[in-house]
Amino acid sequence: MADDFPSRLPVPKDWSRRAKIGADAYAMKYRQSVEDPEAFWREELKRISWIKAPSQISDVSWTKDDLHIHWFADGVLNACANCVDRHLPECKDDIAIIWEGDDPADDARITYGQLYDEVRRFANALKAIGVKKGDRVTLYMPMVPEAAYAMLACARIGAVHSVIFGGFSPDSIAGRIEDCQSEFVITADEGVRGGKTIPLKANVDKALEKAKGVKAVLMIRRTGGKVGFTEGRDHWYHDVAKRVDLDCPPEPMEAEDPLFILYTSGSTGKPKGVLHTTGGYMVWASMTHEYVFDYRPGEIYWCTADVGWVTGHTYIVYGPLANGATTVMFEGVPTYPGPDRMWAVVDKHQIEILYTAPTAIRALERFGDEPVKKHSRKSLRLLGTVGEPINPAAWTWYHEVVGEKRCPIVDTWWQTETGGALITPLPGATDLKPGSATTPMFGVKPALVDAEGNFLDGATSGNLVITGSWPGQMRTVYGDHQRFFETYFATYPGLYFTGDGARRDEDGYWWITGRVDDVLNVSGHRLGTAEVESALVSHKDVAEAAVVGFPHDVKGQGIYCFVTLNQGVDGSPELSAELRQHVRQEIGPIATPDAIQFAPGLPKTRSGKIMRRILRKIAENEFDNLGDVTTLADPAVVDDLVANRKNT
Ligand code: WTA
Repeated sequence: MADDFPSRLPVPKDWSRRAKIGADAYAMKYRQSVEDPEAFWREELKRISWIKAPSQISDVSWTKDDLHIHWFADGVLNACANCVDRHLPECKDDIAIIWEGDDPADDARITYGQLYDEVRRFANALKAIGVKKGDRVTLYMPMVPEAAYAMLACARIGAVHSVIFGGFSPDSIAGRIEDCQSEFVITADEGVRGGKTIPLKANVDKALEKAKGVKAVLMIRRTGGKVGFTEGRDHWYHDVAKRVDLDCPPEPMEAEDPLFILYTSGSTGKPKGVLHTTGGYMVWASMTHEYVFDYRPGEIYWCTADVGWVTGHTYIVYGPLANGATTVMFEGVPTYPGPDRMWAVVDKHQIEILYTAPTAIRALERFGDEPVKKHSRKSLRLLGTVGEPINPAAWTWYHEVVGEKRCPIVDTWWQTETGGALITPLPGATDLKPGSATTPMFGVKPALVDAEGNFLDGATSGNLVITGSWPGQMRTVYGDHQRFFETYFATYPGLYFTGDGARRDEDGYWWITGRVDDVLNVSGHRLGTAEVESALVSHKDVAEAAVVGFPHDVKGQGIYCFVTLNQGVDGSPELSAELRQHVRQEIGPIATPDAIQFAPGLPKTRSGKIMRRILRKIAENEFDNLGDVTTLADPAVVDDLVANRKNT
């Protein structure tokens, strides 16, 4: 019942006293950031150590003929040196990374001094296998400190990393390697999650049967499991590391030199390589990490994401380390060995700031309060969420049970494309409303438009756009600048279209309502319906497929597939299981369909366009509300679809 949720929670007294940014400071700084961005950014860019400080602030054009986004363009810096070297004089013995293994008995603490050595060694190992400035290096890694070393080592020598989440299949790896013509892969023998091993090297081997251009594979030993080894191509990291020395000066990089590529799903076609560059991204990662979490050096901060996603890039590695933070890296899953694992880790490492995803909160809430209350959690001061809309019930459980009402929750809205948080509370400045991402970050100007692109004023809902650039904005789709324009700037000329719908309430607070395009958000993972459809139709028995999302209690959205089989093939539970397996193989376990419905025909307009609106209603179990079906070529197909709906 909506009435059970607090509608507005004021900033707790201890927070308004201690926070770097209180309500007045937020208002003042926000106003300055949008009215006089030059002055604002000239001050903020000082948080980064530049080899050559920039004199230029921004040069941005979002037009079709001249689409470019430049920030701090004449500055020179190195991202790795900002995350490591510069902290040494004062913080050499401070902990940079706390690693918590899948097995609760495994952990490690790495100081900034040790990180400096590890990263330089790794960087020289990369050079030893032939990696040069500008090369793309693919990472397919478990959540071990070496994943962070590898990313920072790339940044140190000016190579561009492309991290692929460990839950993707060999085919997905191959596609991403080919798309950015990556010649180097860093992986591990196996990963470990929830007590199970993941065959990382075996997946890479399979991927490389397809993707031919890879010259060298560098492999970390994690489990010691038996793996294939291709002479001349494969190298054990520990062997190469023995042969290299530690001396490795950071490469001076221009602000607009690429830092990384990260593949993400869109509404059409294959995943796109989102490209982020060095200067703007680092300023944005550092600034947002400091303000959103009110971070001060020495505090223990845990972001539960995987480095395979953007949240891991910005809020496990680059943001926290740029700020000299102690960042926790967790190899496992929240429910292993028991449903109290997260709270056990909080107590074990005395976590002060915890940043996780709504899907994890919902999954843990199902086990009740007992696993939470078994642990003290008294170190916690601040909670955060990211990745999908959080329903007020889950928000309230997180606030009342996990945080015992004393910890504010920062519900941070952002995207792979935005580099860091764009709409988010600041814990010492913003009154909270459960389910609302609240107010814009400095320099961010959100707006609502209708389908025709007219601006909508006041308390209303619409499509969420951003009206001006910010330093952390992606710069292009790797290798396809035209697609960059088409995807983000063609729908509403002059505006960045987020793909999300949102509501602005009477206080000006922002409520993200979810994607308005054909992108699904399954357990916080982005998936294009087109990707799942193309995986399904690549099966020999499938003639046609249409995929839609439906509300799912834990995952946020589940995957519902309507499948038309080839003539003469009959739908059966066995075939359904085979198709699920097929999609897992094509894309990865994160794309496993929740429901497959065999359908003799799909609802199409007379011009042959599939009417997804109707399919969504059927998947959502909302038959009374199918809307106008008279424009369909064959309205009778709908009756069959309704009659044969699968339970979800
Ligand atoms: C959704 C993850 C509501 C949104 C950082 C966005 C959210 C997509 C929130 C990007 C939030 C992310 N509230 N929705 N706090 N955060 N989203 O690229 O639909 O993996 O467009 O980046 O996740 O997902 P991505």
